[in-house]
Amino acid sequence: MRKREYEALKKEMRTVADLEKAGAILSWDQETMMPEEGGAFRAQQLATLSGIAHERFTDEENSARLDRLSGSDQLEANEQKNLERIREDFDKARKYSTEFVQELSRAQSEAFQAWRKAKEADDFEIFAPELERMVSLKQKEAGLLGYEDHPYDPLLDSFEPGLKTQEVERVFKGLRARLEPLLSTLKSSSSEAEEGIMYRHYPVQEQLDFSLEVLQAMGYDLKKGRQDLSPHPFTISFSPQDVRVTTRMDANNLHEGIWSSIHEGGHALYEQGLPIEAYGLPEGEACSLAIHESQARLWENIIGRGRAFWQHFFPKLKDRFPENLKDVNLDQFLRAMNTVRPSLIRTNADELTYHFHIIIRFEIEKALIEGSLKVKDVPEVWNQKYEEYLGVEVPSDAQGCLQDVHWSHGGFGYFPTYSLGSLYSAQFYKQASEEQGDLEEKIAKGDLHTLREWLRENIHQWGRLERSGELCKRVTGKELDPDPFIDYAWKKYGDLYPVNSGTSEKEA
Ligand code: CO
Repeated sequence: MRKREYEALKKEMRTVADLEKAGAILSWDQETMMPEEGGAFRAQQLATLSGIAHERFTDEENSARLDRLSGSDQLEANEQKNLERIREDFDKARKYSTEFVQELSRAQSEAFQAWRKAKEADDFEIFAPELERMVSLKQKEAGLLGYEDHPYDPLLDSFEPGLKTQEVERVFKGLRARLEPLLSTLKSSSSEAEEGIMYRHYPVQEQLDFSLEVLQAMGYDLKKGRQDLSPHPFTISFSPQDVRVTTRMDANNLHEGIWSSIHEGGHALYEQGLPIEAYGLPEGEACSLAIHESQARLWENIIGRGRAFWQHFFPKLKDRFPENLKDVNLDQFLRAMNTVRPSLIRTNADELTYHFHIIIRFEIEKALIEGSLKVKDVPEVWNQKYEEYLGVEVPSDAQGCLQDVHWSHGGFGYFPTYSLGSLYSAQFYKQASEEQGDLEEKIAKGDLHTLREWLRENIHQWGRLERSGELCKRVTGKELDPDPFIDYAWKKYGDLYPVNSGTSEKEA
């Protein structure tokens, strides 16, 4: 009886997933193929589908089913967990009134327009009133969702279930304290001649072919996916059997393409590795944004900017670009792709200074939500923090507090997941190396499957049955910890720039 009830709920969840995934196909098309004037009706079509999906999910009958199933002892352990997660999603979805959802969605689209204009005109005043409205809506949302310690908690929870503001503060404090000494030893590490290697002319088609070769070596299944071009690279899944990536290529900037493909490839391996039979259920979904990002950054930075990987792939890249790379050796190429320099723009930052961009945003958005910072003071505080943390002077708000789209969408609580993803990636990779022993040697021979299988077994196939903190503990035996990332960074950059970081890493 209970089994039949569970099957009925599962069927409903799959219908909801069908509606959402149909919307996802429309989104993919919008970003890659849609002609210019398709936009107006497309927005309406997407809104219609997501409205129907939301209605279908929050239906009274589902509530009754969940009630009838609660406390049942006839279900398997994974079915119980699925049920718990669906209940949480359901309770959360029902806390939003239709009026609030509509108000928020209107505010988002107006704030986005204002942000775009403000950034273009380099005028924060244009965005300020919309940002004020967005902050107050998000404070209202925090109240609707409820919290014990901090109003930022429930917003964070929307992106990273179970994560608390205090935990982010603890992790970022440790990260900052240990990154600063590393960065000061690296300060004058890069040479312009080596950096210039990346800005020679690399025809786009060759870059695309090479990136596909790498994706396939990673184990990205092209019978269950494809790569296209789009202005903002992304990964989107319609099911584990159709997971698509996009990339952006620039013939005069090698930084753009290959690593964006590898990054999205990391996201895509996660989606292709989710259990097929759990389609539509929490078990068939990724654990959280930070865990998702950890997969992308593990492949992009730890593997894709690492020596072992390029021992195998650099000769292949040289075959494709013999003229450009004939005077370049592996060390020079590794330094060129791993230049560390404090900068203004988050999305162009290297993997070390990147975290300061995130810490700054976290501190500002937390202060906005708790009400200790006024919107009108954001530019001043932003510029102060860039000076203090990165030592760079911000010449304009367009290159400062207006650079990111996130706040205009109301995405308060999103930024920390980027940095946490990096930290998780190093912690997972350390564990994989300990369990596999000769992982680096294998990668240097072009074997990326061993790592992919380890990730599949330990992370991908578990879906969303655990919180990210639980997953981390199961896989590594420990809570999230910035130390493996810092150790990885000292080792890697110490090897790349031996003269400048000649002082012992023990000093950190
Ligand atoms: Co990503």
